[in-house]
Amino acid sequence: MSEPDILKGKLRLPVFGSPLFIISNPDLVLAQCKAGIVGSFPALNARPVSQLDEWLDQITSELESYNRANPDAPAAPFAVNQIVHRSNQRLEEDMALCEKYKVPVVITSLGAREDVNQAVKGWGGISLHDVINQKFAHKAIEKGATGLICVAAGAGGHAGALSPFGFIAETRSWFDGPILCSGSISTGGGVLAAQAMGADYAYIGSAFIATEEARAEEAYKQAIVESSAEDIVYSNLFTGVHGNYLKKSIIDAGLDPDNLPESDPSKMDFGSGGGSKAKAWKDIWGSGQGIGSVQKIRPAAEYIAQLSAEYDAAKARLCG
Ligand SMILES: Cc1cc2nc3c(=O)[nH]c(=O)nc-3n(C[C@H](O)[C@H](O)[C@H](O)COP(=O)(O)O)c2cc1C
Repeated sequence: MSEPDILKGKLRLPVFGSPLFIISNPDLVLAQCKAGIVGSFPALNARPVSQLDEWLDQITSELESYNRANPDAPAAPFAVNQIVHRSNQRLEEDMALCEKYKVPVVITSLGAREDVNQAVKGWGGISLHDVINQKFAHKAIEKGATGLICVAAGAGGHAGALSPFGFIAETRSWFDGPILCSGSISTGGGVLAAQAMGADYAYIGSAFIATEEARAEEAYKQAIVESSAEDIVYSNLFTGVHGNYLKKSIIDAGLDPDNLPESDPSKMDFGSGGGSKAKAWKDIWGSGQGIGSVQKIRPAAEYIAQLSAEYDAAKARLCG
């Protein structure tokens, strides 16, 4: 187990709630942290930039007062996701705000940058970079990331194509720092399986869409509850990068999920609907394959308590 000091003894379950574009907000992050897992959100969810200042102020002060009131069961630290891509014109301003609030964990996606990793280390935080293959994993560590998020096949949003069994084992063979396993995890047994494979933490996204705190429309939450692995479509049409989406939203946008055209990766655009009029993330709903076990919309804390009970039961069953 490779546990950074900043997380040591602070998590009740080895889980991160992953950042979800549009959907993650302070309510969800606070519920996740108070329930003992790392909560996170993409900086770009706070618009304009001044709202990021407000959100960070709210999250840090609320967690501080929660920890004062609950010294025996303090909240887990939180994380901010930065899209390190040339299209993100807010990166410098958003990083300055992360420095102002000394954000404990920064999750970087779509580009690894040495200066970003150095800056996070400078204020005492850690940086975790999400990757879909070994080439990007090596690059991220060379550029100074503290740890790796291995985004395997079946993950919601931009997903890889590798099986987690191969991906985690190969990564662990050369990297002894923190590894997070991402893709289709939605049960406590899945969390334990990620650890058994060699990861330190499970990284869970789609299952949190069906929580009361998530900033998603009711029909999206309901579609997560009603859908299963077979209702997930892998396509690069909507953003230029391959990702997993709910079939229902593709049909509702007037498209045939079984005959989607390929997109041109040189025209990568994270907000448009590629060749269609539907907007990715807003109309075309991201989701991973693990949602078959999501049975109802409920408070995040209730879902995390279930994960915890399942994790303990799986451990007891396998380890005695
Ligand atoms: C709707 C949606 C939005 C996402 N937005 C982001 C994002 O803004 N930044 C990011 O790094 N990852 C994003 N992801 C990917 C997740 O962080 C994570 O890798 C994924 O949800 C894990 O797989 P799972 O959904 O099967 O649990 C998104 C995923 C979904 C489903």
